[in-house]
Amino acid sequence: MTAASARLLLLLWLWEFLFFTATFSEAATPPQRPNVVLVIFDDLRPVLGAYGDPLASTPYLDEFAQGSHVFTRAYSQQSLCAPSRNSLLTGRRPDTLHLYDFYSYWRTFTGNFTTLPQYFKDHGYYTYSCGKVFHPGLSSNNTDDYPLSWSAPAFRPRTEQFMNSPVCPDKEGILRKNLICPVELQTQPYKTLPDIESVAEALRFVESRKTRNREPFFLAMGFHKPHINFRFPKQFLSRFPLPQFFNYTEDTLKPPNMPAVAWNPYTDVRARDDFKHSNISFPYGPIARHQAAQIRQGYYASVAYVDDLFGKLMEGLDLENTVVVVLGDHGWSLGEHAEWAKYSNFEVALRVPLMIRSPQFPVSQTKFYQGITELLDVFPTLVDLAGLPALPACQEDPQKLTCGEGKSLYFQLMGLGLADEHVALSQYPRPGMLPTKHPNSDKPKLRNIKIMGYSLRTDLYRYTLWVRFHAQNFSRDWHDVYGEELYDHRLDSGEEMNLVPLPEFDDVRQRLRRRLMEVVGSS
Ligand SMILES: *[C@@H]1O[C@H](CO)[C@@H](O)[C@H](O)[C@H]1NC(C)=O
Ligand SMILES: *[C@@H]1O[C@H](CO)[C@@H](O)[C@H](O)[C@H]1NC(C)=O
Ligand SMILES: *[C@@H]1O[C@H](CO)[C@@H](O)[C@H](O)[C@H]1NC(C)=O
Ligand SMILES: *[C@@H]1O[C@H](CO)[C@@H](O)[C@H](O)[C@H]1NC(C)=O
Ligand SMILES: *[C@@H]1O[C@H](CO)[C@@H](O)[C@H](O)[C@H]1NC(C)=O
Repeated sequence: MTAASARLLLLLWLWEFLFFTATFSEAATPPQRPNVVLVIFDDLRPVLGAYGDPLASTPYLDEFAQGSHVFTRAYSQQSLCAPSRNSLLTGRRPDTLHLYDFYSYWRTFTGNFTTLPQYFKDHGYYTYSCGKVFHPGLSSNNTDDYPLSWSAPAFRPRTEQFMNSPVCPDKEGILRKNLICPVELQTQPYKTLPDIESVAEALRFVESRKTRNREPFFLAMGFHKPHINFRFPKQFLSRFPLPQFFNYTEDTLKPPNMPAVAWNPYTDVRARDDFKHSNISFPYGPIARHQAAQIRQGYYASVAYVDDLFGKLMEGLDLENTVVVVLGDHGWSLGEHAEWAKYSNFEVALRVPLMIRSPQFPVSQTKFYQGITELLDVFPTLVDLAGLPALPACQEDPQKLTCGEGKSLYFQLMGLGLADEHVALSQYPRPGMLPTKHPNSDKPKLRNIKIMGYSLRTDLYRYTLWVRFHAQNFSRDWHDVYGEELYDHRLDSGEEMNLVPLPEFDDVRQRLRRRLMEVVGSS
């Protein structure tokens, strides 16, 4: 036994001892469980002051981070909303769920798997969903998985229906479907916006639980922003002078030696009224400098807008008795190596903020963790933080309906580092080798998927392998390769230089390829 595991056992024993002492001395009352609030931001990469971004204006998230455990290298399993959320909320990888698009519901398509909120509901919690938590539509049975996941029907803001409508006034006052869409609330349907409605409902819910004082609650609050379009109250724009977004990144060229299959042509950005007449060359662009700066400014202003609403939500919570987790469902490229939007296996599309605040592990100043974590880790971690029976690991029995493929971060929060080196596995599907409009290679439907890109983030590297994938039986052929990428994060945190052609990296490349196949195989 190593010293570290001896220390672990001792602490576990101590923990059990304290727990039992507490339980027996108050045998008459059931254990007091904390409330849990899971906050999901749509398409949020770590453009937060707390993550060291000098251009961000996120005072409320930064204040939250002050009392939180902040994971600086957390990764999404797929940089697309529905698959990422299905994975986060069932605790299973997209490959296990066989869900890579928006059009299937895991319970009928793969397995009747227990979700994170359902686990809490089954253990005596009152569970409630506000805003975009599950992806709406077919992928959550048009019910946000109610009633299995939630104690009451999920709240969807009534203005959500206008998300893709022409609601952005142009200079003449004509309403357009613009990408960049600062607004005055009076001009908007019902004079409000979806996230304003969702936060009001979340606060109403929290207040109602205070007076009743019954079972603890699990509240999931899903913000719609900063997802495009960038529609926010226009005053937030004034915090972000445009010139600072011109030279946002020095890295504005497509990586040399990048396989074409890795590229996402950001079709959703091109399709908006304010971009579709700009003649952005397909598939590689570029987007003109002025418009590029405006996209970044719009993204940052959208983040500032939801930060403000997040502050209002926090004011309503009793943080003494509430575990709060804040995360983004995946990242977003803001022009790094000439890329925009999500839809890829690049670091900027996969890395997300992940912050945990727990009354059991209070901190007076942000505690940063550099270890590699995945959104899959959230389910088992929250279960442990609430003191519920630990979530079994799926590895022991993949057929199990209630299990998780992630690892609990509980011992890290306790101050015990984990000994082995962790990696993050992400993936992205493509319909072919080249970027295409039809089928849309940014978000192929399951039946069109021909290639899967598996991406491994280790401490030092990102290694990505694009291989033949059979959508009929969800199998892959490791020998049929369409692209291979290796980026060394010590020298190239922007992933600008694919090292695969360089013979001096052959050993690393082969070692990472074996590791990748192992990780995919065992999941
Ligand atoms: C799915 O599981 C839930 C319990 O987790 C159960 O109530 C339900 O009947 C199951 N549905 C099917 C189709 O097996
Ligand atoms: C899915 O929705 C249908 C109604 O459209 C309903 O009959 C069915 O029970 C739902 N499935 C689950 C698992 O909730
Ligand atoms: C951005 O950099 C270019 C040269 O690289 C320079 O000409 C320009 O003035 C800079 N713009 C701003 C707003 O700093
Ligand atoms: C875009 O291309 C079309 C057709 O080639 C041309 O008529 C139009 O003027 C171009 N627009 C801009 C803004 O360059
Ligand atoms: C999956 O289907 C493909 C194409 O039909 C076939 O070549 C492959 O052998 C199948 N793989 C497995 C594991 O069944």
